[in-house]
Amino acid sequence: MSTIDQIDLKKVPKHVAIIMDGNGRWAKKRGLLRVFGHEKGAKAVKETIEAAGKTGVTHLTLYAFSTENWNRPKVEVDKLMNLLVSSLKKEFKTLHENKIKLNAIGNLNELPSKAYKELTEVIEKTKNNDKLVLTLALSYGSRDEIVKTVKEIAKKVKNNIISLENIDDSIINEHLYTQNLPDVDLLIRTSGEQRISNFLLWQIAYAELYFTDVLWPDFKKEDLYKAIINYQNRERRFGKTSEQLK
Ligand code: IPE
Ligand code: IPE
Ligand code: MG
Repeated sequence: MSTIDQIDLKKVPKHVAIIMDGNGRWAKKRGLLRVFGHEKGAKAVKETIEAAGKTGVTHLTLYAFSTENWNRPKVEVDKLMNLLVSSLKKEFKTLHENKIKLNAIGNLNELPSKAYKELTEVIEKTKNNDKLVLTLALSYGSRDEIVKTVKEIAKKVKNNIISLENIDDSIINEHLYTQNLPDVDLLIRTSGEQRISNFLLWQIAYAELYFTDVLWPDFKKEDLYKAIINYQNRERRFGKTSEQLK
């Protein structure tokens, strides 16, 4: 079993992003309704945030609800939105005490007003915290984000605020939802699926990808440590040769 002592504190990924998948299958395996999987999944979220804080990861981004997830049955969507509200209410104090700053990315205007209100309140109350930036991707789709970004930049070019020649990586970065976040270092997906599902397409350009068969509700702190240890044993070459890195 992986323990925190096996983590090299000098090589901790700054930004870890997780596609939390497998809640439905976890429930189905037990003959339960999908919603119970989401409830258990919320507990795994809590454990993961605590574990990330201990490792020295400074940014944790969790894919909680995609633009495509709006197409799920209404009961399930409602359950997920209610869980968001109740988790924020329940966990606010712990988040704040642990100096966690809450952030959210996605088309937040589409959230039910109760969820939007709770979310923005916790974001406001935790805005001066500096131990860990916890970003929830809600009603998030990477293509949606890129379309929005292109439109904003095009508008600025049209209004002579930005010149066409000046558009570069950093201008694009500044217009994404993730404008204040560093690039993703490690992307984890649970449940055995090996796909990106419209998550942070631009931001994972050079992320290390880690897939595990563990279903999200079963994900424990040791699973996070294991992913980080695996990451630390890789060589990130960024196009260079191995010798150049020595
Ligand atoms: C992840 O679990 C949670 C969300 C996408 C909101 P799923 O609900 O996708 O679980 P599976 O993939 O059906 O097992
Ligand atoms: C991706 O999971 C979205 C979240 C984890 C919130 P899905 O379960 O919706 O992904 P696909 O549709 O199976 O790829
Ligand atoms: Mg899924």
